Amino acid sequence: MTEIRPCHAVQIAENIWWVGAIDWSLRDFHGYSTPRGTTYNSYLLIGEDRKILIDTVKAPYFDEMMHRISSVIDPSEIDIIVSNHSEMDHTGSLVRTVEAIKPERVLASAMGKKHIAAQLGWDGAEVVKSGDTLDAGGMTLHFMETRMLHWPDSMVTWVPERRVLFSQDITGLHLATRALWADENPSDIVRYELAKYYANIVMPYSALVLRFLDQAEAAGITPEVVANDHGPIFRGDYVAKVLTWYREWALKKPTRRVVIPYATMWGSTEKMARAAAEGVANAGCEPKVMALANGITHRSDVAERVLEAGGLMVGTPTLNNHMFPVIADVLMYLKGLKPRNMVGAAFGSYGWSGEGVPHVGEFLEGMGVEVVDTLNVRFVPGEEDLAAAYELGYRVGQRIQELIGS
Ligand code: FEO
Repeated sequence: MTEIRPCHAVQIAENIWWVGAIDWSLRDFHGYSTPRGTTYNSYLLIGEDRKILIDTVKAPYFDEMMHRISSVIDPSEIDIIVSNHSEMDHTGSLVRTVEAIKPERVLASAMGKKHIAAQLGWDGAEVVKSGDTLDAGGMTLHFMETRMLHWPDSMVTWVPERRVLFSQDITGLHLATRALWADENPSDIVRYELAKYYANIVMPYSALVLRFLDQAEAAGITPEVVANDHGPIFRGDYVAKVLTWYREWALKKPTRRVVIPYATMWGSTEKMARAAAEGVANAGCEPKVMALANGITHRSDVAERVLEAGGLMVGTPTLNNHMFPVIADVLMYLKGLKPRNMVGAAFGSYGWSGEGVPHVGEFLEGMGVEVVDTLNVRFVPGEEDLAAAYELGYRVGQRIQELIGS
C-alpha cells in the first residue's frame, strides 16, 4: 500500500508528489453528510526550471501541507502556485502559503482571481485561460477552464509528459484514508463515495460533464493518473472506470430503482410507503424505502440513491397545513440538484386538512418529475387505502418499465 505517513509527501509520478491533508473529523460539508471524513489534496511538481504547487488546503491544515512539502524541498523554493478551484477548502490557506513561500506567481482562471479576491481579500493572482500553458522544464502544464464544474472559476491542469490530470473537485470523493490510491481502498466504498459526491456536488452540472468529457477526449487528454482534490486518487484501469461512471451519471438514463423517502407521525404514511414498495417490486422494479426523521437518513443519502434511480415516490403527513418539515428539506435540496428522467408520485396520510400530499405533488412537478398520481388518505389507511398505495407503486413501476422499454 502507498501509505500516507505523517509529515511526508507521497510520490504519484516522476517529480510529482501529493502534499495534501487528511481531515478525519469532517462530518458535514455544507449540508452534505461526510461520515468518512475527507482529504484536501495539494500537489507539488518539480520541473527542471520551475517548482509548482497545485491547489492548497483548507485553512486549519496549512501546517500539515507545509510539513509534507518540506519532506521534499524547502517550501520557499516553490516558484508558482496554481489555483484550480477557489472554494475555501482549497484556498483557505492560500494567502498564508503565499506569505510563507513568496512565490513569483499565483495562477488562476479569471473568475478564480475574482473569487480569491472576494473571499480572501487578496488580489495578487494572475489570470490563465483555456489553452494557456506553462513550461516547468520537462513538464508542461496545460490549463483548461471547466466553468460551473462545479464553480464558475473551476479549471483543470493537464501534464501530458506524465499523463496526469489535476481534476480539482471533478472526480472527488469524501473519504479520509491513509491509502493514497483508490485501488488500495475497498472498491465498494470508493464507488459509493464517488457516486455520493457526484450526486451532491456535480449532478446539477451534468450537461457540462458530458461536454468536458468530450472536450478532454478531443484535446487528447488521456490520463494515466487522475489527481483530484478530495479523497483517494485514480490510476490505471480505475481512470477509465471513473470516466465511464461519470458519463453514465451525467446521462442519468432511467433505471428500475425507485426511491421512496417518507416521514410518518403515527405510522400511517409508513404503512402506505411499505404498500407502495410492494407495488413497485411487483412491477419488476427495485424499491428503496428511506425513513426520514431528524437524525435518520440524511438528505445527501437520498440524493445518492436518486442518482441511479428512475423513480421517486415521496410520502408525507400533513403538519400544520404543510408537508412535513423533513420532507420539505429533502425536496428543496433535491430540486437544486436537478435530477433528470424521473417518474414519481406523492402519497401520505392526514387528519383534517390534507395539504401535504398535493404540495409534494406540485413540488415534484416543479422539479420536472413526471408525476403519475397522488394519494391522500385520512387518518389510518384501511385495506382499500393500502391497495391504492400498492397500485400507485405498481403504476410508477410500470411507467418506468415503459420508458426503459421504449
Ligand atoms: Fe472541494 Fe468545490 O470544493
